[in-house]
Amino acid sequence: MTRIFSGVKPTGHLTLGNYLGAVRRWAEVDQYRADALFSIVDLHALTVEHDPARVRRLSRQAATLLLAAGLDPARCTVFVQSHVDAHTRLSYLLECTATDGELRRMIQYKEKSVRAKAAGQSVRASLLTYPALMAADILAYRTDEVPVGDDQTQHVELTRDLAERFNLRYGPTFTVPRAVNPPVAARVMDLQDPGSKMGKSHESGAGIIYLLDEADVVRKKVMRAVTDSGREVEYDPVEKPGVANLLEILAACGGGNPTELAGVYDSYGSLKQDTAEAVVELLRPVRARHAQLAADPGQVDQVLKEGAERARGMARPVVDAAYEAIGLLPAG
Ligand code: TYM
Repeated sequence: MTRIFSGVKPTGHLTLGNYLGAVRRWAEVDQYRADALFSIVDLHALTVEHDPARVRRLSRQAATLLLAAGLDPARCTVFVQSHVDAHTRLSYLLECTATDGELRRMIQYKEKSVRAKAAGQSVRASLLTYPALMAADILAYRTDEVPVGDDQTQHVELTRDLAERFNLRYGPTFTVPRAVNPPVAARVMDLQDPGSKMGKSHESGAGIIYLLDEADVVRKKVMRAVTDSGREVEYDPVEKPGVANLLEILAACGGGNPTELAGVYDSYGSLKQDTAEAVVELLRPVRARHAQLAADPGQVDQVLKEGAERARGMARPVVDAAYEAIGLLPAG
């Protein structure tokens, strides 16, 4: 059976980008077609300046939202990364497999280190080694497929290179995984700045739809989205990135494809109105289930406990085999 692994980082409230680019397909497709693990990758949230209480709160909220989005613990494994030691154990071996040049070439490292320096913050060493930990997340489970948004593809490509290199040097140990992107909305853009990705931690929240935004807030954000000059509704991501983003969101919410949908609208206003309603309807059940689950945190904790137990059992033999293959003396 195909093995799937993916994760979400608790650095901010989950966004429509996270949902359309990843989480929705985990819930609607992936958990039914594969042996799937989904993790709240909390250790990754420590690679930038963080507030401990906030990370803890966001981790629980992310877990609750994954369940609210429809992940069913009877079908897939949902767990918190730091509950399974195998990730950090394996990460070190992969740091010893990667080169510093490879890590420095990662787009997210470049962007985030520039941003940290501009804000007068130091760059944590873990920001550079982040992709080794991400590779460990994936390789510890002999993962075949990694369903992610477009922005994570480069990290999964590096994971493939590391797995191949390790296997070649030390003998077959890891499955070589591949990234799988959703057919539409693989990169949802910020509504106020359609040149950049809708990210959890963009400074202003005006261009970001959070999964827990109230319906009226969603409507306001979509209606105020930056559109492009001209009046014609066309799907042209280069010339009209704002309109193209709305068309992609609408297509992802309601089916259809962005180019065809463009032909249906004769004004930006009506496109925005329909997009706003489609997003509100898409998120309504998620918000409702989140409210129910949040009232019973014990239930979520229990899911995470059982998930971590299952994950530990799967990862341990793979990581033990990697320790032996790389030349470390077995503990006996
Ligand atoms: P993170 O937490 O930034 O995002 C979680 C998932 O959401 C996708 N995503 C988007 N998709 C479309 N449009 C957007 N605007 C958008 N923003 C985010 C991401 O591509 C991702 O699939 N490094 C990862 C977390 C991670 C991971 C892993 C993922 C750690 N280990 C192992 C897969 C496998 C991250 O920061 O995702």
